[in-house]
Amino acid sequence: MKRDLKTIVFKVNPENPDEEKINVAAEVIRRGGIVAFPTETVYGLGVDALNKEAVKRMYEVKGRPPDNPTIVHIAEFNDVYRLAVDVPEVAEELMKRFWPGPLTIVLKASNIVPRITTGGLETVGIRMPKHNVALALIKASKTPIAAPSANIAGKPSPTTAQHVIQDFYGSIDVILDAGPTKIGVESTVLDLTTKPPQILRPGGVTYEELKEVLGDIIVHKAAKAKEDIPIDEVKSPGMKYRHYAPKAELIVVEGETDKIIKEINKLINEYSKMGRRVGVMATDETVKNYEMGIVKSVGSRSDLSTIARNLFRILREFDDEGVELILAEGVPEEGLGLAIMNRLRKASGYKVIHVS
Ligand code: TXA
Ligand code: MG
Repeated sequence: MKRDLKTIVFKVNPENPDEEKINVAAEVIRRGGIVAFPTETVYGLGVDALNKEAVKRMYEVKGRPPDNPTIVHIAEFNDVYRLAVDVPEVAEELMKRFWPGPLTIVLKASNIVPRITTGGLETVGIRMPKHNVALALIKASKTPIAAPSANIAGKPSPTTAQHVIQDFYGSIDVILDAGPTKIGVESTVLDLTTKPPQILRPGGVTYEELKEVLGDIIVHKAAKAKEDIPIDEVKSPGMKYRHYAPKAELIVVEGETDKIIKEINKLINEYSKMGRRVGVMATDETVKNYEMGIVKSVGSRSDLSTIARNLFRILREFDDEGVELILAEGVPEEGLGLAIMNRLRKASGYKVIHVS
């Protein structure tokens, strides 16, 4: 990708974004340009969702396969009815409860949504982000904004503007920098066009929270997978591509904590002897148990939201420090743990060791 554009980087206040800067960015969206902006989950690579040319350019810049659909971001509840048809009652319940917030709802798409935005599907994923900069940008642009995570396809998602600068400086028009994002893993993608509703990607809104509202709900098996799922069983095209991957090789070790520690120590030894630069993604509770390698804590096992927030940043840090092999501790698949494990397993290309 050529990097010959003059990218403007604006620092904006996450709570009270400067109106002038938002207006400049919105004007860029309106004339078909690309603006990276913060949401509560990760940074997004935004374009006018209804402008085919702009969407096409965004796919090229990101290096995203054309059959992988992009989430459409809105700032007003009513926009759902322009973008989707046959909106079920339960969608409204979910919108009231979880929007603005990290929940993407997949509905039947209306005719105004270009099929390039939906990756050729007849459905559209919609969400209202919980971030004042994102909401201000969408409102000022006066159009829904299509935005995938603002990383080059396949790389870890960006939780700071610095990550976006690494991937896209010189190839997009504007980057709105409002500091690190709060949640750190992407939104939950929930398909309401099937019965029962299906979680296609676990994320910021948990299975447990959705179950409380919906009763009947399933998690697509690819979302929980410990290995690759054959393409014909894939429901959301995003499921079939390698994702979130650092440059380093990554191995995830899952099971009881004390056994994980033992296994990782054994692996550090083996790989260090082979002359490889090894990194360990540990947790606050376990970080002192590793004596070799570059050891980083990703957060606390007793507060999975800290792990979600730091996950992608730490993966990128290991790369920056030239680590060749990352050994990552698994966490239980409860609450945000489901999203964390989904990202880690995918990032590893399903190199998972289960100790028990
Ligand atoms: O938190 C997020 O969701 C972030 C921020 C920027 O909003 N966005 C994000 O977008 O993660 P992206 O493009 O990296 O991931 C979107 C996921 C993909 O797995 C895609 O396949 C799925 O959502 N998706 C989007 N529209 C869909 C649809 N109509 N049917 C099935 N899956 C869909
Ligand atoms: Mg992504």
